[in-house]
Amino acid sequence: MLVYLNGRFVEKDQALVSVDDRGFLFGDGVYEVIRARKGRLFEDAAHFARLATGLRALRLPAPSQDMATLRGLCVELLERNQLVSADATVYLQITRGVAPRTHQFPKPDTPPTVYLAAGPFTPPLSAQANGVHTITHPDIRWARCDIKTVNLLPNAWAKQCAVDAGAAEAIFMRDGALTDGASSNVFAVIAGELCTPPLSTYLLPGITRRVVLELAHELGLASHERPIYFSELRTADEVFITGTTSDVTPVIRVDDWTVGNGAPGAVSTALQRALRDRLDACAGRPAAG
Ligand code: PDD
Repeated sequence: MLVYLNGRFVEKDQALVSVDDRGFLFGDGVYEVIRARKGRLFEDAAHFARLATGLRALRLPAPSQDMATLRGLCVELLERNQLVSADATVYLQITRGVAPRTHQFPKPDTPPTVYLAAGPFTPPLSAQANGVHTITHPDIRWARCDIKTVNLLPNAWAKQCAVDAGAAEAIFMRDGALTDGASSNVFAVIAGELCTPPLSTYLLPGITRRVVLELAHELGLASHERPIYFSELRTADEVFITGTTSDVTPVIRVDDWTVGNGAPGAVSTALQRALRDRLDACAGRPAAG
């Protein structure tokens, strides 16, 4: 498997990053996970816009490659790894580079570390068809969850708590309202209305979340970006999570209660189908598109 590291395509086991890399020492970097189907990147413009926003927000030096070049490298990586006939994901990470360990940022001319990897991806079809269990978990993350940083220990912790409880995802709760999942955004159908928490610095502006809101609009489903409180979540007819690697996955259990009738609901299923159509349409797009 070839990866891209700082200007070169190399075998993954030959790719070396310094122990002084700020990503290693401080989790000082940003990342994206981009879905690809048949060599076409899904919602790439949105992913690169979020990446650029994250770089600016963290005052990370811009990589020498601009966003269009990085996008081209993602496609080239898929091609070089023969990942152009099915589903794949591309992982892209940019850190503040290599510098002696000091908490403050190194000199601004320190070159960032740029890393790209790609791998085959199998959509979680069984989870999507049958639904998954989740737990709620206190949102112990920092107050800039809108930036997709590699500093994921609270997310990894919450996900492990979910796995320990036999669940697939942890839903973060902050001040009595849900924010997002450990690696997904959360939607609920409450009193017949599709709701998802509004964008804020407390949750990631998920690309799939945005696409699902668009799809809901196209399907004539009213949606509301508004706080969802724990007490309301208990009354939800449907709950589902969204993300690059989860698509639309229905939630049939939260903590110790069953959601709705315990099976994926009509809204979740309709949006799941619509998202699949979008992915199929992406795969049929001309290569340069
Ligand atoms: N995670 N919220 C969090 C905390 C996430 O980590 C993710 C995605 C999402 C969904 O965002 P998107 O629709 O843009 O993938 C929401 C990726 C897949 C990961 O960390 O692997």
